[in-house]
Amino acid sequence: MSTTATTPMMPKPGFEAPSYVNHAKLKAWVSEVAALTQPDRIYWCDGSEAEYDQLCNEMVASGMLLKLDEKKRPGCFLARSDPDDVARMEDRTFVCSKNKEDAGPNNNWAEPAEMRETLTKVTRGSMRGRTMYVIPFSMGPLGSHISHIGVELTDSPYVVVSMRVMTRIGRAVLDLLGQDQFYVPCLHTLGAPLEAGQKDVVWPSNKQHKFIVHFPEEKLIWSFGSGYGGNALLGKKCFALRIASIMAREQGWLAEHMLILGIQPPGGKKHYIAAAFPSACGKTNLAMLIPPKELQGWKVTTIGDDIAWIKPGKDGRLYAINPEAGAFGVAPGTSELTNPNCLAALNKNTIFTNVALTADNDVWWEGLSKVAPANLIDWQGKPWDPSAGKPAAHPNARFTVAAAQIPCIDDDWENPAGVPISAFVFGGRRTTTVPLVVEAKDWTHGVYMAATMASETTAAIVGKLGVVRRDPFAMLPFCGYHFGDYFSHWLKVGRALSSAPKIYAVNWFRRDEKGRFMWPGFGENMRVLKWIIERCEGKSGAVETPVGNMPRLEDINLKGIPDFSDADFKAITNVDKQLWLEEVKDHARLFSDLAARMPKEMIEQRQKLEAAL
Ligand code: GTP
Ligand code: SPV
Ligand code: MN
Repeated sequence: MSTTATTPMMPKPGFEAPSYVNHAKLKAWVSEVAALTQPDRIYWCDGSEAEYDQLCNEMVASGMLLKLDEKKRPGCFLARSDPDDVARMEDRTFVCSKNKEDAGPNNNWAEPAEMRETLTKVTRGSMRGRTMYVIPFSMGPLGSHISHIGVELTDSPYVVVSMRVMTRIGRAVLDLLGQDQFYVPCLHTLGAPLEAGQKDVVWPSNKQHKFIVHFPEEKLIWSFGSGYGGNALLGKKCFALRIASIMAREQGWLAEHMLILGIQPPGGKKHYIAAAFPSACGKTNLAMLIPPKELQGWKVTTIGDDIAWIKPGKDGRLYAINPEAGAFGVAPGTSELTNPNCLAALNKNTIFTNVALTADNDVWWEGLSKVAPANLIDWQGKPWDPSAGKPAAHPNARFTVAAAQIPCIDDDWENPAGVPISAFVFGGRRTTTVPLVVEAKDWTHGVYMAATMASETTAAIVGKLGVVRRDPFAMLPFCGYHFGDYFSHWLKVGRALSSAPKIYAVNWFRRDEKGRFMWPGFGENMRVLKWIIERCEGKSGAVETPVGNMPRLEDINLKGIPDFSDADFKAITNVDKQLWLEEVKDHARLFSDLAARMPKEMIEQRQKLEAAL
């Protein structure tokens, strides 16, 4: 009898699922993917600390991770990615619905069968020489009625350890899955097979092809060729936003690119706010804000910094959970001055990616200190030349850290019931036009404000920097279906609420003629949040303008802001009619792109605004 031939029904040695796996469909899918990708072995992750430590040690040995100084940064590592694999790639991201119309003009679309064929071709044999890891994970607290389960198959140990920080992984999730519960299948491969004897590179990826693909009808995610962030940690953007937004529409809830924070006025009742900003536009910073000393007694706590899953409760309010268990945040700009809470979280057990390395094995990035330490090693592992005009850390360098390590984490951050939302905030990066803060007149007007928001592009995506584009709800790269249908869904959810959150638009990023930020931002943003909470409680005034309600000088506490005069407040709350008329024209362009599915309420709102201006 041949020793190599195995009958088709017999798994290759080492390919059997552990005896505690009772989910037939999952076992069959794992076998099917293994047959296609041909890994050397399959490993089912149990989610234990021992497993995490072992994988980190293996990566240190292979050179994929660098251990940082154990005294300065206990349990911390540095990863350096391939220079071509540093951020999300929007032009390689697809939503392959049966009907092209359903994906909408806001998504790249390909015919599902054709895409499947393309992916099958490139994925065949792609895990050769590697281990295929099976990661059962829960987005949201285990067993919460707002949570959902996924299983990621990956050939990247960096993805496994990152998923352990960012989500809840392991045996307990399999127990919840039981024999037949629903999970979102997430297939990830680096697309970098190792042939016999071939030496591995530090950051394997596929130079030729990258695909991040979503199949809405099957709720299947298939990502090929990249090992970075949102391209590879499939629980995050792919599941918790693109696929979840589709599930949310089917099931009557919301999946949003939002931070969630708690705000407690001195001696008052605690409120929760959910706020959407595009990538690298201030969610992590706002979520961990420390109020300025003039607003002593106001307490801010963090529920989440990137994604919110929000469901109507029986009491007619909206309840939100953070589906994640960690932060994958932007390092550059994070400092003792801008975000001390975040910096404190990074003292231990953190995986840094693409930051600079100091001579004493610590990390550094632009903005961490005014002066860069001497003898830095840059994010590509080369001695850094400060005079060369290139940053030492990649502008999209990130940290991966457990939410539990955030000093201001809210006591209820894992409450399976979620927290009730008092207000939604939407903000973009706008150099001109958009004032500091505007309150929507009602839900429909708020949906219009969010639908028409715009922002300048950042280093979080591969492509051109600083280009203003419409980014409805900060969901342009993340809404898994037609934006027109998405706006309708928001309108429908709002109509069914007896106690709908108030809606606000903010802009921390307006600049003067000299290019300087007109608003101090960061902790000082608390002044705006305070006004918002007081509006929710009916305690503060406002003036009506064509674009919405805005605070007057007497409505907002500006005491003690360095170098900020009443005239500066006038300037940053100014609504320039000419600029706004142009703005409204651009709203019309967006709406005409989405015309096939645009709700009539949005079109009416635009006409009203134009008339008011
Ligand atoms: P993603 O993780 O990509 O979704 O981003 P995020 O929205 O969490 O962005 P983050 O809070 O990490 O902010 C990114 C950049 O915006 C950093 O460089 C910050 O320094 C800067 N930033 C954040 N808040 C403010 C602010 O209030 N004012 C100014 N001027 N810059 C800010
Ligand atoms: C974003 O780009 O909005 C992020 C980072 O939060 S990533 O996970 O890479 O998408
Ligand atoms: Mn994000």
